[in-house]
Amino acid sequence: MIVENEKSLSVEEKEALDEAKISRNEFVKGTKKLYIESYGCQMNFADSEVVASILRTNGYSTTSDVSEADLVLINTCAIRDNAEQKVRNRLNALNANKKQKPDLKIGVLGCMAERLKTKFLEEEKMVDMVVGPDAYRDLPNLLEEVEEGHKAVNVFLSREETYADIAPIRLDSNGVSAFISIMRGCDNMCSFCVVPYTRGRERSRDPHSIISEATDLFEKGYREVTLLGQNVDSYKWENEEKTERFNFAQLLTEVAKINPELRVRFSTSHPKDITDEVLYAIKANENVCKYIHLPAQSGSSRILELMNRTYDREWYLQKIDRIREILGDDCGISHDIIAGFCTETEEDHQDTLSLMDYVRFDYGYMFFYSERPGTPAAKKLVDDVPEEIKKRRLNEIIEKQQGHSLYRNQQAVGKVHRVLIEGFSKRSEDDLAGRNDQNKMIVFPKKHYKKGQYVNVLVNSCTAATLKGEIVE
Ligand code: SAH
Ligand code: SF4
Ligand code: F3S
Repeated sequence: MIVENEKSLSVEEKEALDEAKISRNEFVKGTKKLYIESYGCQMNFADSEVVASILRTNGYSTTSDVSEADLVLINTCAIRDNAEQKVRNRLNALNANKKQKPDLKIGVLGCMAERLKTKFLEEEKMVDMVVGPDAYRDLPNLLEEVEEGHKAVNVFLSREETYADIAPIRLDSNGVSAFISIMRGCDNMCSFCVVPYTRGRERSRDPHSIISEATDLFEKGYREVTLLGQNVDSYKWENEEKTERFNFAQLLTEVAKINPELRVRFSTSHPKDITDEVLYAIKANENVCKYIHLPAQSGSSRILELMNRTYDREWYLQKIDRIREILGDDCGISHDIIAGFCTETEEDHQDTLSLMDYVRFDYGYMFFYSERPGTPAAKKLVDDVPEEIKKRRLNEIIEKQQGHSLYRNQQAVGKVHRVLIEGFSKRSEDDLAGRNDQNKMIVFPKKHYKKGQYVNVLVNSCTAATLKGEIVE
């Protein structure tokens, strides 16, 4: 799951968004200054907000200026080798700050911390602290150890931790949309994926805490929440007495009931788990957005089996048909695809391209395969597709997606869309930007409107990345 509100398909731009999105921190009170930078998926960004909250009770206020920080935390991602490379480069740059300010403490959090554990301290000498995704409550103790001049490590993975009771401090927020983690970890074993090892076992957060967090956000003026999990369709919770149960469709419905003016989004859906019940819950609730991120990974059943995705091409396409039957052709659908997985032939690659042609996705996140140490694929399969072939296939996939994004955007031209205004457009303060139900970014002249409001926009032109239009009153 990647930052979803940006529409761009070039590899460079994708990388920039996917792996190096920097949180700019809003100012909160405290005596010591924390600078926190996040990489990777939205769940990592949400975790940084939990970390800021834990450290606030310990006297740390956040700053967006690294030079005034007493503590720098880097929340890392391990999903692909280049994600880790970015973190290493960043740590090298931060070393210079440490030389100028010897009291500065540097901590590494998140998935790369979990993957490398104490090795991090051997490899990167300036790092003072290594903390895995389930150990953030221990940060105050770990910081004490660091203050006493020791190196501190906690990479314990928990079966229970969901940080349900911690009210996140919203970082880099537009005050309109926020992310809410509804579960942690992953019990799937996709052979290419490091997440089960870095985030541990799947566990679902108490729905009451989710509903109260969403309600609180709405009361503070937020108008959109995105419910986050590696596999939201397997959300499952019951109370200790086993008298109350929640699945994802029920949770979605309850969050939607908070207020019709609160948009509800969710990510990521897994093709093996998304149910008709979820699709009907989306249909039944006007404010649940008609947009589904449904990673395919490959269009070849043979490759899907090697990936241990537990569905095949036909299953995936049947899910697409079902989405369109229940929610109509208007429902936005996006994908993740990996090019050049172990043993992938030209025929397998053509299967991926033909799957894309069948679906005509609105948007896609596309990668070439990067072997991750310790994963089933690294242990049992050979990473045998040469890099130039991986890259060529990836480019063909990106090019195809660009065509489909343009096609799908063209379908939106000439129609009126309900848009939640997120702020100014990137290019001009005369224009506002926001997304429609299907997650498409629309830019339009601002008139007297402001972020957080809903407007009806008649779309009159588009590119593969953006729609342009005019407010109709
Ligand atoms: N839980 C989500 C995916 C989370 S990781 C799901 O099951 O779909 C986000 C995406 O990164 C994955 O969908 C996959 O496309 C990509 N990815 C994961 N491991 C990768 C690897 N080793 N090499 C390249 N891409 C990878
Ligand atoms: Fe990784 Fe698969 Fe879990 Fe997604 S579902 S996080 S790809 S193991
Ligand atoms: Fe997310 Fe990267 Fe970890 S994608 S779960 S931060 S490995």
